[in-house]
Amino acid sequence: MPETLKRAPTGFSLLLESIDVHLAELLPAENTPPEILHQAMRYSVMAGGKRVRPMLAISAFQSSGGVGEVIYPVACALEFLHTYSLIHDDLPCMDDDDFRRGQPTLHRKYPEYIAVLAGDALHALAFELLATCGNAEIVREVSRAIGTQGMIGGQVRDVQAEGKAVSLEDVEAIHRHKTAALICASTKVGGMLAGAPPADLLSLELFGQRLGLAFQIVDDILDVEGDPVTLGKSIGSDDRLEKATYPKVVGLEKSRQIASRLISEGKAFLTEYPGKETLGKLADYILEREG
Ligand code: IPE
Ligand code: IPE
Ligand code: MG
Ligand code: MG
Ligand code: MG
Repeated sequence: MPETLKRAPTGFSLLLESIDVHLAELLPAENTPPEILHQAMRYSVMAGGKRVRPMLAISAFQSSGGVGEVIYPVACALEFLHTYSLIHDDLPCMDDDDFRRGQPTLHRKYPEYIAVLAGDALHALAFELLATCGNAEIVREVSRAIGTQGMIGGQVRDVQAEGKAVSLEDVEAIHRHKTAALICASTKVGGMLAGAPPADLLSLELFGQRLGLAFQIVDDILDVEGDPVTLGKSIGSDDRLEKATYPKVVGLEKSRQIASRLISEGKAFLTEYPGKETLGKLADYILEREG
């Protein structure tokens, strides 16, 4: 895996390693039939990636007083769901991208039907894992975050907006759905699994909403001015597809200001939360990241 794609925020390297170990263990073995499907799932998941969603879930869980390994299947489920969304996002019928996580996209490496089905299989595996946590509210929270009023609804709006003139409200709605919903749910379910009180869950939710929107704004900025090697994916994809992005609607400088303001606002919601330092560091990383 390219070193550049493995860089964790300062103080989070051990957590990143531990997430990777659990992901590798929870994926089906490559020599179990149908081998090609299991190889494809592993190819995409284990290629690297920042593991932002599991890091948020685990950090919120531990900061809320949660102990033990029970968070790991949930955290890994979030990463499997995210990876499935990336595999499908890259397909020719969507963003038609050739590189992801420093290597050819799954449909470039394997037949397209395998890419579609590997995404579906990661989705199924995620719910099998979520079910093990024994908390139906968590399963519901994640389902809603990735459904028609969350990630999938956002992906539809994203494609529909290609080539159109969009307002700031339109692009904000797209980004809230396609990206912020799952990031927010990742933060919140960590608290839920630890049994955090309602006030803390609200803080986590308000923080997660700002963080998630800022995350996609930074992604848009990096698609314009990032380094493809550090990012592990091609840049200029949004411009090619005339996507609705913050830089397109308000320009790069204003996009940076909005992302920065969202991170400050998000952190302000954590003033009373016990994990304000840990989550604050992740928030700073999301703003300053280059990959
Ligand atoms: C990329 O997500 C897609 C978006 C939602 C912006 P990440 O930037 O988290 O991708 P990985 O997981 O690190 O590869
Ligand atoms: C992807 O957004 C959002 C989801 C996968 C839900 P992008 O299309 O901007 O992500 P990248 O830039 O391809 O990683
Ligand atoms: Mg996309
Ligand atoms: Mg894309
Ligand atoms: Mg992008």
